[in-house]
Amino acid sequence: MIEIKGIEKSFDDNHVLKNVSFTFEKGKTNLIIGESGSGKTTLLKILVGLHKKDQGTILFNGEDINKMSNKEIRRFRQEIGMLFQGAALYDYLTVEENIMFPLNMFTNKTHREKLQRVNSCLKRVNLEGKNDLMPSELSGGMKKRVAIARAIVMEPKYLFCDEPNSGLDPKTAILIDNLIQEITVEYNITTIVNTHDMNSVIQIGDNIAFIHRGEMWWKGNKENLFRSNNKELSNFVFASKLFKRLKQSS
Ligand SMILES: Nc1ncnc2c1ncn2[C@@H]1O[C@H](COP(=O)(O)OP(=O)(O)OP(=O)(O)O)[C@@H](O)[C@H]1O
Ligand SMILES: [Mg+2]
Repeated sequence: MIEIKGIEKSFDDNHVLKNVSFTFEKGKTNLIIGESGSGKTTLLKILVGLHKKDQGTILFNGEDINKMSNKEIRRFRQEIGMLFQGAALYDYLTVEENIMFPLNMFTNKTHREKLQRVNSCLKRVNLEGKNDLMPSELSGGMKKRVAIARAIVMEPKYLFCDEPNSGLDPKTAILIDNLIQEITVEYNITTIVNTHDMNSVIQIGDNIAFIHRGEMWWKGNKENLFRSNNKELSNFVFASKLFKRLKQSS
């Protein structure tokens, strides 16, 4: 579980996050939704330590990261798996080398142990035997699956995914959403997914935070999302004609 309270962040005079509070639940795919520029990536980057927040509290399973020593922070960072916006694979490394990278960086495992772990992750994302392919030889969906394998190779307690299915066709996007959902339940981890894809919301929206202009505007799940009378949320959800029609026919 991750609790954030009163998060504030500005870049110079651009006040990006305003008093944002939320609880991301364990064993669930928690979604952060909101239009482009609303502050979703900034919030994830704060959680992973790539940006500094100006104010607020962040508790990872009850532990306050403000109160951790540098050594504790280094240990704790290894408990986070991150899937960046775009797959962000190393183009000059094979699939196997990409997935092994965090194990080489952070563990003293033998090559045999590392290879076993890499192969079990490859199997988990249905890419068994694809070890020696280069990223340029992969489809967009395969790249995302390799990135997911790399994100889970260290057996993280937390998995953060920034727009995991951007650039994919709707069918492959659903496969990626489902894979993230399955992994979350199977490993009982706290997963946060940033998205503006309404298909993802319908597919995996257990616990949703809607951020509007840097403010936490609405919280709920996919069931009550469609019944909400919140104007800004409705504008976001029903921006697509298809969803508008679905609403009218329900
Ligand atoms: N490193 C940075 N320096 C200055 N401003 C930044 C930086 N990163 C983000 N911003 C600003 O913060 C705001 C929120 O950006 P952010 O990337 O968090 O939005 P987002 O919700 O992830 O959008 P998208 O859906 O397009 O990915 C934007 O106004 C952006 O210009
Ligand atoms: Mg973003």
